Amino acid sequence: MSTSLYERLGGTDGIQRIANVLVDNHAANPVTAARFVDTDLDKAKKGAAEFFISGTGGPNVYTGLDMVAVHRGMNISETELVAVLSDALDALRKNNVGQREQEEVLFILFSMRDDVLAQ
Ligand code: HEM
Repeated sequence: MSTSLYERLGGTDGIQRIANVLVDNHAANPVTAARFVDTDLDKAKKGAAEFFISGTGGPNVYTGLDMVAVHRGMNISETELVAVLSDALDALRKNNVGQREQEEVLFILFSMRDDVLAQ
C-alpha cells in the first residue's frame, strides 16, 4: 500500500510546521499582506494545518467552511493566487519536503483555483 501524502509531509506535526511558515509568508508577502492585517495568525495557522491534514489523507479534523464559502466576496485575483501558491512552495521547501510531495501539494492547491478566485 502506498503511504499517504499526510504521512509523507510528516503527519500532523510536519503539516503544522508547514502551515506556520505558509501563513507567516502570506502576512509578509506584499501581494497578500493587506488581506491578513486583521487576521488572528495563530488561528489561521491552525485552520490551514487542519485543512491540509484533512485534505492529504490524515484524520478529518477540518471544521471550517468550504473553499467557495471562505473566499466568497473577497474578489481574489490570479496574481494573488500565484502569490499564495509561491508562499506554499516556499513553506514546503523550508521544511525540507521532497520534490514529489511539493508537486503533489501544488497540484492539489492549484486544482482549487476556481473555488477561490473571484467568480
Ligand atoms: C488554493 C488556494 C487557497 C486555499 C486552499 C485556501 C485555503 C484557506 C483556508 C483553509 C482558510 C481558513 C478557513 C478556516 O480556518 O476556517 C482560508 C482563509 C483565508 N484565505 Fe484562503 N486559500 C487559498 C487562496 C487564497 C488567496 C489567493 C487569498 C488572497 C490573498 C486568500 C485569502 C484568505 C483570507 C483573507 C482568509 C481569511 C483569514 C482570516 O480568518 O482572517 N486565500 N483560506
